[in-house]
Amino acid sequence: MEINILENVQAVAEAGADIVAELVTRKKDATLGLATGGTPIAMYRQLVDLHREGDLSFRDVATFNLDEYIGVSPDNPQSYRAYMQRELFDDIDIDRANTHLPECAEGQDPLEVGPAYEEKIRAAGGIDLQVLGIGRNGHIGFNEPTSSLASHTRIKTLTRETVEANRRYFGENEFQPELAITMGIATIMDAREILLLATGPMKAEAVEKMIEEPVSAMSPASILQMHERVTVLLDRDAASALSHRDYYDWVQEQKRRLLGRRDGS
Ligand code: GLP
Repeated sequence: MEINILENVQAVAEAGADIVAELVTRKKDATLGLATGGTPIAMYRQLVDLHREGDLSFRDVATFNLDEYIGVSPDNPQSYRAYMQRELFDDIDIDRANTHLPECAEGQDPLEVGPAYEEKIRAAGGIDLQVLGIGRNGHIGFNEPTSSLASHTRIKTLTRETVEANRRYFGENEFQPELAITMGIATIMDAREILLLATGPMKAEAVEKMIEEPVSAMSPASILQMHERVTVLLDRDAASALSHRDYYDWVQEQKRRLLGRRDGS
């Protein structure tokens, strides 16, 4: 894992957007795996800015989101479809037909959604870059602790902790779903490259377990230790429980030196 500890939320957003932009510039028809939640919003804003500045086009890009609630229709502002339209898709030149979420349409059997979603990802040639956040309990997508590390897209029941953590996004009397369809952990691990963003003190413990403790289904994000190409972008608060911060900073310094030497600067 490459651990990059940055000054603040904005620096994380900018570094994340640079990684996405670099890929989309190099591979115009890249397939992105996208995440929702509060964390990636600043990065999406940054991507919208880069697009508006005229340098970045998503015309041929395809996207697959990690998860979607069951029982929340796409036109409900609480759906992850609505989130993606609002936070990114409506403000860039992406073709909506190329944007996918594991949605369960009214009347559709939710058990069929997972395998069909896996097939769509396969048909698109797999995911080039998967963007992830992390839950306070170490979940990725909605793969809650004890999720099979070999899982694929399927229905998950959210933990009470996750429902509680996400309550802040819902109104007092608003229906809050407790079921979702999420990419599995194996689905995520199949991505060619992974970018995980975490900010704020509430994520410090989950981040420490992901990076510095043994791989365990109790901390689903820890499986990323088994992936060859993972970049973790953290702000100082999210990095505050790490024991080896000096080493991570030292690695980044060495990287800057190496790149500087390569660029002749
Ligand atoms: C949500 C999502 C995850 C997200 C995580 C953290 O429930 N399913 O994909 O990474 O929980 O969310 P936030 O960024 O709002 O803290």
